[in-house]
Amino acid sequence: MKTLNLTLNNSTKKLYLQIAFAIRYAIESGNVVSSEKLPSARVLAEQLAVNRHTVMAAYHELVAQGWVEARHRQGYSVAAILPIFSTKNINKNLKNNQEKVVQRHIWRLAKSNDNKAMPTASGYEFNFAGGNPDINLFPFNEFRGFMNQALNRPDIKELNYGHNNGFSPFIHEVSKYLRRVRSITNKEIIVVNGTQEALYIIAQVLIKTGDKIAVESLGYQLTWNAFNNAGAELIAVKQTDQGIDIDHLEQLVKTQKIRLLYLTPLHQYPTTTTLAMSKRKKIYQLAQQYNFPIIEDDYDHEFHYNSQPLAPMAANDPSGLVIYLSSFSKIMFPGIRLGLIAVDKSLVLPIVNYRALLNHKVNVPLQDAVARRMKDGGFERHLRKVTRHYQKRRHYMVELLSQFIEDGLEIEFSIPAWWYGAVGKYW
Ligand SMILES: Cc1ncc(COP(=O)(O)O)c(C=O)c1O
Repeated sequence: MKTLNLTLNNSTKKLYLQIAFAIRYAIESGNVVSSEKLPSARVLAEQLAVNRHTVMAAYHELVAQGWVEARHRQGYSVAAILPIFSTKNINKNLKNNQEKVVQRHIWRLAKSNDNKAMPTASGYEFNFAGGNPDINLFPFNEFRGFMNQALNRPDIKELNYGHNNGFSPFIHEVSKYLRRVRSITNKEIIVVNGTQEALYIIAQVLIKTGDKIAVESLGYQLTWNAFNNAGAELIAVKQTDQGIDIDHLEQLVKTQKIRLLYLTPLHQYPTTTTLAMSKRKKIYQLAQQYNFPIIEDDYDHEFHYNSQPLAPMAANDPSGLVIYLSSFSKIMFPGIRLGLIAVDKSLVLPIVNYRALLNHKVNVPLQDAVARRMKDGGFERHLRKVTRHYQKRRHYMVELLSQFIEDGLEIEFSIPAWWYGAVGKYW
């Protein structure tokens, strides 16, 4: 241990005893625990600006009392078994603190979220929840190479404050990727720590208390929490097996002031339906006519198995009203905490400046490493590989379920379409 914060109580006692009391107080208060290493006499002497022999005398005193153990060549550590606290009033402050029943502070929460701890996704033996990538497939060795490069050859000026939208070479790479693979142009990129952070910031920037926000009636609870927390009233739009019910949406926007629509059009969460082009067009016209923006959450764009997926709504957004969200949680892993907001220029400063309240700099080494991986092609190679794996697993699952049905089990299932307009079975 390098440093142990000690308070000497300037009494008339000899200095070595004051130091011994202070170390014992640190042990009794739990600042250092059984068997933990203590600072060497030299380090402690420097810290307290006293002679090393004075500290050694303090340690000898504590060894004699049984609080400290001295090991040959290993220095001093807290005793593995502590002596029972003496009833002698060695330290009045400590004794008073122990005897008083201290009332713990009760917090007044001005805002709160669900107060249950979130279960870990890896904590289940079988986890059928949607949206957990198989992290065992991730090429950590390859990624470590890019992390090393980012740290070996850092762009020093980018490591200082500024450039709050994101690390410029990363923005460059993702802009290219979004343009090439998802047809998104005419948008500015803001890098965030995942979609959830994006939703929180956007909700804070765009929603006032009492605003009505339209959401899919079956949807992503964490998004709803972010909207609720900003004071929104959520209005559920009915769903059919083809995605949201456009007639119901139209009726809602005609009769109430809807401020925002949240959608998962490519792969509705959790039903997996793909919203057809004609429906997207109609929704977009309603958004233009009734003046509400759309948040398009495209959280797992790459995982399609039969043909290329429909381009996002953000790819055809002449009015600049679509806020497009993309996450690296599925294409890498959730712990990477990387996401993108692609928005119209006019919304960049409000979002970035609001985000500065929480965080006024992005994680440069991480974005640098991912940018290098994207430039190298490793990013897309991995995507192709995992897509093949997931496709095989889906195929296997379909076979198993079909077998159960043949064997007389009364269940029904349909295979997610994953691309434009497709419905029904494909195997
Ligand atoms: C609908 C939806 N949006 C976004 C995300 C990704 O969120 P994040 O980027 O915060 O990990 C998920 C993850 O499960 C999701 O299901």
